[in-house]
Amino acid sequence: MSDFVFAAKLSDLAEGSITAVYIDETPVALTRVGERVFAFGNVCTHDDGPLHEGHIEDNCAVCPRHGARFDLITGQPTFPAVARIPIYEVKVEQENVLVKL
Ligand code: FES
Repeated sequence: MSDFVFAAKLSDLAEGSITAVYIDETPVALTRVGERVFAFGNVCTHDDGPLHEGHIEDNCAVCPRHGARFDLITGQPTFPAVARIPIYEVKVEQENVLVKL
């Protein structure tokens, strides 16, 4: 059972862009949509595309390689991916973004 750990400074997360971090060697992507911060697995389940090189659109992370879209709340994909990505719990404490794997 893991605990919340520091992932990034809130001010380092620009609205709509995706930041890559590693937490315990797990590739995690962070993004900020409005006041909300999302953390999700940074590897596309279709063919390992790096999601942080994609973009955010309509509350989905769009893979830069073949365009699969992953819902930021459920992790559910669209074609050509079929398996969901992990979605991680996020807590913001002052300037610190904390993530629980
Ligand atoms: S590697 Fe992401 S859609 Fe193909």
